[in-house]
Amino acid sequence: MKVKKAVIPAAGLGTRMLPATKTVPKEMLPLVDKPVLQYIIEEAVDSGIEDILIVTNRAKTAMDDYFDYYPELEHRLAASGKEGQANEMRRVADMANFFYVRQRETKGLGHAIARARRFIGDEPFAVLLGDDIMMSKVPVLRQLIDAAEKYNCSCVGGQYVSDEAIGAYSSTKLVRLEDRIYDVLDINEKPTPEEKLSNFAVMGRYVLTPDIFDILDATPPGRNGEIQLTDGLAALCHRERMVAVDYDARRYDTGNLRGFLEATIDFALRDPQTGPWLADLIKSKAQTL
Ligand code: UTP
Repeated sequence: MKVKKAVIPAAGLGTRMLPATKTVPKEMLPLVDKPVLQYIIEEAVDSGIEDILIVTNRAKTAMDDYFDYYPELEHRLAASGKEGQANEMRRVADMANFFYVRQRETKGLGHAIARARRFIGDEPFAVLLGDDIMMSKVPVLRQLIDAAEKYNCSCVGGQYVSDEAIGAYSSTKLVRLEDRIYDVLDINEKPTPEEKLSNFAVMGRYVLTPDIFDILDATPPGRNGEIQLTDGLAALCHRERMVAVDYDARRYDTGNLRGFLEATIDFALRDPQTGPWLADLIKSKAQTL
């Protein structure tokens, strides 16, 4: 199994980040000095992905503009001696082959991924959610692809979360295979404490076989009238082998304000340009609280 294509569903309405996200896609909010989406694309590229399909909608054209060339800007930068910045603009647009498809109605994550069928064809592919970013040594998607290739099957990424948190995610019934890798026997979405299968929550990254498309097309709308990816994953793991990777990373959900703020602080602290200055600033502000 070789995974060379990725799908980034980014057509959600971003209601948890309103009012900013009324006109700025949440995937384009700047985290330190680049949009959230660029971190996700860099993770995909660093994991060996070459072709990336972004699922977008009519209000989110800023995403395809960002990964396009902008000759006027590049010429202006180059003419004023800022070749480095001009080259960086090109590098971002050339990172991968970008493709776009519109989700014409906001009918859920499963529905968004189903829009990728013609682009994917008959090969395994990666999914990276457009608002989950990772801080890790080995790119998280690479950790999943390694497991998917080793066991020759679909692979979901996730982490163990607290009893209080699991109800907000999907829980999984697992059998341990090796350090950080499990067979997946079942998955359910937003379980009550009684329904919980374990505290392992599936979050943000997936490698799927194309069999998911027939399943998603046949999946009826679930919670909120949306086609839920989790329902599709449950059917897929009943039909064929699926493994889970407990990925080694710090995950940030930038689709909610606290996650976004924490990611901003952590990434700015890690950046040599801003880190020492921000650490001093936080210390001096903390003294005045
Ligand atoms: P979220 O539930 O985090 O995104 O979906 P949302 O719907 O934009 O968020 P809120 O709750 O309104 O704030 C997870 C991922 O699935 C995409 C989102 O863009 C996000 O990357 N998604 C969700 C779609 O592409 N289409 C949908 O219909 C729903």
